[in-house]
Amino acid sequence: MTEHLPSSSHATTPLTTHHTAQAGDLAMLFTSDYKRYVVQLHPDGATHTHLGVYWHRALIGQTWGAAVQSQLGHQALLLQPSLTDLMKTLKRGTQIVYPKDAAYIVHRLSLHAGSRVIEAGTGSGGLTTALAWAVMPTGMVFTHEVRPDIHQIARENLARVALLPYVRLFLTDIEGGFQASDVDAVFLDVREPWRYLAHVRAALRPGGFFASLLPTANQVIDLLAGFDKYHFADVAVEELLLRPYKPTPDRFRPDDNLIGHTGYLVFARAIDAGEEMGRWQRPERQRYEARLRTTAELEAEAQRRAADISAGGKKYPELPLPG
Ligand SMILES: C[S@@+](CC[C@H](N)C(=O)[O-])C[C@H]1O[C@@H](n2cnc3c(N)ncnc32)[C@H](O)[C@@H]1O
Repeated sequence: MTEHLPSSSHATTPLTTHHTAQAGDLAMLFTSDYKRYVVQLHPDGATHTHLGVYWHRALIGQTWGAAVQSQLGHQALLLQPSLTDLMKTLKRGTQIVYPKDAAYIVHRLSLHAGSRVIEAGTGSGGLTTALAWAVMPTGMVFTHEVRPDIHQIARENLARVALLPYVRLFLTDIEGGFQASDVDAVFLDVREPWRYLAHVRAALRPGGFFASLLPTANQVIDLLAGFDKYHFADVAVEELLLRPYKPTPDRFRPDDNLIGHTGYLVFARAIDAGEEMGRWQRPERQRYEARLRTTAELEAEAQRRAADISAGGKKYPELPLPG
């Protein structure tokens, strides 16, 4: 796709509430072969597609949902792009968080208009788009990326969909900490998130929300191991499977392609650093820890008795096995 836009112009709002497309609006051309072109409308603009050129002057003033025509006579629907459309059509420099996971992350981090949230790494800005959408117009996303090329792609992606006013992008390695503090939530999509838990704690407001997306189980285990040390409780590990269907009334059935795995989602809350962590672990973990303690005590007792017996001392009944 090539898109002709005046270089200095960015859409003023991600979505409008009026019924017709206007200059400055974000719009989507949706072709009959299910291709999507997200564009910002400009009186002198044109969108070049595989079905020809759509002149914006012919789109401005049209009702949302109307069919519009390219110079080659091919029709496309003029729609307002949804958040999913924005995420799916952004330029990719990295793998992005899938919309199904992004939606749930926003929900679990309890984000709303006015929230302040830290993110790393920015990557292509896929999740950043969903975070900014959730916290605008009064909140802010503080996102961190170590690679200059990727940082630039994310900036352009966010500008293209008019969400840049709600995002501060930092080109930095989070090894040195985050560029914001007293935030409501932190989300990490980096290879070794457990290495940054001290920084997460320092940046989160008391009781704040933490989440991370990890592709492998090994990474989840390493992250879980760090939670006690840095006082995180209410820990959950979840995975979402989305099963799409073919929406054909007479042959309704599941899609042929199912994405088997995107990532494990790990969630936790920052709790008071003075708390005794054993009390706030999940009940099954508390039972497991108690079993380990009992086993150790029984082993120590068995060794003591064995020493007694070999020294010619008294005889003991058998020790009970731990349940
Ligand atoms: C999988 S991508 C993130 C994708 C992003 N969540 C999205 O939806 O588009 C991971 C990114 O983290 C960045 N990264 C890795 N370690 C980092 C660090 N220590 N500080 C900042 N960024 C880091 C990488 O350069 C990469 O761009």
